[in-house]
Amino acid sequence: MLLCALGVKAQPPVYLDSNRFIEERVEDALSRMTLDEKIAVIHAQSKFSSAGVKRLGFPDFWTDDGPHGVRPDVLWDEWVQAGHTNDSCVAFPALTCLAATFNPQMARIYGECLGEEALYRDKDMILGPGVNINRTPLNGRNFEYMGEDPYLASRMVVPYIQGLQSKGVAACVKHYALNNDEEYRHQVNVVVSDRALHEIYLPAFKAAVTEAGTWGIMGAYNLYKGQHNCHNEVMLNQILKHDWGYDGVVVSDWGGAHDTDEAIRNGLDMEFGTWTDGLTMGATNAYDMYHLSMAYKERILSGKYTERELNDKVRRVLRLFFRTTMNPNRGYGFLCSDAHYTAARQIANEGIVLLQNNNNVLPLQLTGKRRILVVGENAIKMMTVGGGSSSLKVQHEVLPLDALAAQCARYGVECDYARGYVGDTVQSYNNVTVGRSIAENRPAQVLIDEAVKKAREADYVVIFGGLNKSDHQDCEGHDRKDYALPYGQDKLVEALAAVNKNVVFVNISGNAVAMPWKDKVSAIVQGWFIGSESGNALADVLTGEANPSGKLPFTWFAALNDVPAHRLNTYPGTWRPNHQIIDETYSDDIYVGYRGADKYKARPLFAFGHGLSYTTFEVGKATADKKTMTADEHITFTVDVTNTGSRAGAEVIQLYVHDVKSSLPRPQKELKAFQKVYLQPGERRQVNISIDKAALSFYDDTKQAWVAEPGDFEALIGPASDRLTQKVKFTLK
Ligand code: BGC
Repeated sequence: MLLCALGVKAQPPVYLDSNRFIEERVEDALSRMTLDEKIAVIHAQSKFSSAGVKRLGFPDFWTDDGPHGVRPDVLWDEWVQAGHTNDSCVAFPALTCLAATFNPQMARIYGECLGEEALYRDKDMILGPGVNINRTPLNGRNFEYMGEDPYLASRMVVPYIQGLQSKGVAACVKHYALNNDEEYRHQVNVVVSDRALHEIYLPAFKAAVTEAGTWGIMGAYNLYKGQHNCHNEVMLNQILKHDWGYDGVVVSDWGGAHDTDEAIRNGLDMEFGTWTDGLTMGATNAYDMYHLSMAYKERILSGKYTERELNDKVRRVLRLFFRTTMNPNRGYGFLCSDAHYTAARQIANEGIVLLQNNNNVLPLQLTGKRRILVVGENAIKMMTVGGGSSSLKVQHEVLPLDALAAQCARYGVECDYARGYVGDTVQSYNNVTVGRSIAENRPAQVLIDEAVKKAREADYVVIFGGLNKSDHQDCEGHDRKDYALPYGQDKLVEALAAVNKNVVFVNISGNAVAMPWKDKVSAIVQGWFIGSESGNALADVLTGEANPSGKLPFTWFAALNDVPAHRLNTYPGTWRPNHQIIDETYSDDIYVGYRGADKYKARPLFAFGHGLSYTTFEVGKATADKKTMTADEHITFTVDVTNTGSRAGAEVIQLYVHDVKSSLPRPQKELKAFQKVYLQPGERRQVNISIDKAALSFYDDTKQAWVAEPGDFEALIGPASDRLTQKVKFTLK
């Protein structure tokens, strides 16, 4: 009062003084908190929120899925949608598509846009991105992840996180770690060598922590060394927090915490979703029954634990508060802005992969044509709905049939449609309808006959098939049951290819599928799950409005048995006698994806990094700036790339390293750098790509360290892992 009267401003308490270092503010806030307040901030108070500290002015903390759009609100204690009218979002392309852009700039834009949508919706943490490695194409959640290669996933996840967090919204990178299949995800105990763990499964998480500085990490459901990953001594305490120096929070996957003492000791900081079916615990509040709630408090009061572990958890949560809810510079965000739609379409245009284009059947030449026939359920089905926790409620999703019909109308071409197959009769998912997937009762053969009849009369047949977001397809909770396309699509494709030579198959999925008819169709496009702008982006590519430049972020194996995990019969593992735990031994070790295709000489249908364009590129002779490098030097490779065709386009120059001789067996090649170049017709650019010793290193489990052994190496350079025409030898001294 007196100070005010004298015109002197009262000093805010240290924790509220944004000019102070965050650690000082954390310590100050911590010193003011009661035991109950500390316990309250480390576990959920609703399906997706946890408490702040009201007395001190910290607001509640809101998380939400993730990873490719902001999930609609659900009821406080239930999964059922709240039925709000202000929570329709833009769905961005799923992360396989983002990875396929091979363009980190797209990931930055993605993160920024998602952050703005989250802010508008008052969300403080997005439960994503996901970076589990694609080890088997059966994994129902691969579509949420960034492919099979640890280097590619690392390069793409860092800018996504930076973009998101630049808006004051925390990322929660998931699912840490080794959650590479969905079937029995709560019971799978992964047995893996330290080498494969560090070379294949951890790098993207490590980059998220050490390069992007992620504020959140979600523990995975499965087990490692017999302990659940949400409270795992090795994964969380040793690797994440000790070795990588992580200062953010570990959030449990929803219902992933199972043991109070392990949750206290083994690095879990925020517990969510325990007894995830809602308030089924009787008269008391179920959230009090969490491992990190009353059970923890009782153990402190009884003297079993001091507040040491608790204070570490609370410090992390307070840091999170200061980074997000207490960040005075945070904006208010935008929902469904034009810029977000533009970004979604641009990312999709860059991520769609042209897998095959015999006789340059694509782009569709509509001028002077009479009729195109669109076939398939995926032309009329919304794919933003379903699939588990990533399911969204979008403001709009443009369906492929509508977008193509609009393009045809511009040219006066008729756009006919035949269903061709019936995949799903599900009309809605959690109260959201799934597009025009109208009931269809005619027998399969009648649908095929109808499509064939129409195909005879069409200039082009464009089939939108693939998978969908239903159980046992590209969907959380289970894996696919087999590698073949579902719903009798193979028969349909064969029948159409027999009567029309211009058949284009657009595969909608986040996974590879068997294509026994590959050589019978002219073109194959990998269309992913693209989100709100799905139809528009696909029509852009099919008609040539956009020139495709996406590259496969995984190996498209010809048969399931070619996939190392299946060849070695390691999936899904072996149940222990008590039927509580299933041990899945990763005997494919470091030979995942193209590393395995090389080792076992399995010729894929389409190689990792493959993707065609409507123009042509010439990659010139590669050179290096030195023949010999030392361990603290960089080596720079230079190559000229020329657009030799007649359209503007982009090519991805990929650099793989081959270790000529090493003390441990190594993959034949490993991706260590890439660069996307945009070229006008006739334009030539010099591409310079530098690597350092990290690109030459492997993880030596006997030394528990990354090692770059002196000796000879080769840089293999080209536009796809199976077109590495340039080889440059060099030596590490
Ligand atoms: C999923 C997570 C998701 C969480 C919350 C879990 O079932 O595995 O990825 O973020 O639910 O919806």
